[in-house]
Amino acid sequence: MRLPLVAGNWKMNKRLAEARALARAVAEGVSKLGGARGRVEVVLGPPYLALPAVAEAASGSGLGIAGQDCSHEKDGAFTGEVSAAMLKDAGATHVILGHSERRELLGETDALVAKKAAASLAGGLLPIVCLGEALPIRQAGRTLERVGRQIRRSILDAFPAPPEGLTVAYEPIWAIGTGVTATPVQAQEVHAFIRSRLGEAYGVDWAAKTRILYGGSVKPDNAAELFAQPDIDGGLIGGASLKSEDFLAIVSAALST
Ligand code: PGA
Repeated sequence: MRLPLVAGNWKMNKRLAEARALARAVAEGVSKLGGARGRVEVVLGPPYLALPAVAEAASGSGLGIAGQDCSHEKDGAFTGEVSAAMLKDAGATHVILGHSERRELLGETDALVAKKAAASLAGGLLPIVCLGEALPIRQAGRTLERVGRQIRRSILDAFPAPPEGLTVAYEPIWAIGTGVTATPVQAQEVHAFIRSRLGEAYGVDWAAKTRILYGGSVKPDNAAELFAQPDIDGGLIGGASLKSEDFLAIVSAALST
């Protein structure tokens, strides 16, 4: 009942011409796979400045386009910030929020992520809110406690009513860019927990239709086994989204689950 979603997080990679070429290659590849509409949702997450070019290169293909962050403010004196409305103007449909790189390197808190999530949905963008624990937390057996706290503070505090169009990404920090992937069993345990917590808050029907993506070293050779888990509804892909063949192989894996 949940359409799989595969989103590429290009992070701070790809100059303009490369971004355009990658978007074209993915759009062509997805169309060769029989098209995205109705079978899988594919989203590209370029850096801000490449976003309009990527949106243009992908226009008509059915691909979604995500910003990698957005301001929680609508407009005003916020030097360097980009609002949800600006992203939308530039062609974005989605926005990735609360990525662990922003939380860890730039000090983003759950409270800020909640404000951004509320602002982006109000501004017409579909938020993909990232959660995930660091290695010491997992080693201490406190993964569900930490992810539970992130759910409360980054999602439930943002949305008193069930947020239509929200996607959650579980991204264990120790698996991001490290080549170490959570095992399907480890990931499924956390995904099931996230779904049940969201179900308690927003109702089981809402939780049953909401996508929870896995992110952290998803590659063509491990995507299928992850996506086969009952509560894993696709992936947020970093490194492997930078090469069209790898990303398309992951999209294919999502199509066949
Ligand atoms: P990775 O990144 O696939 O390179 O591990 C995932 C992410 O950070 O979203």
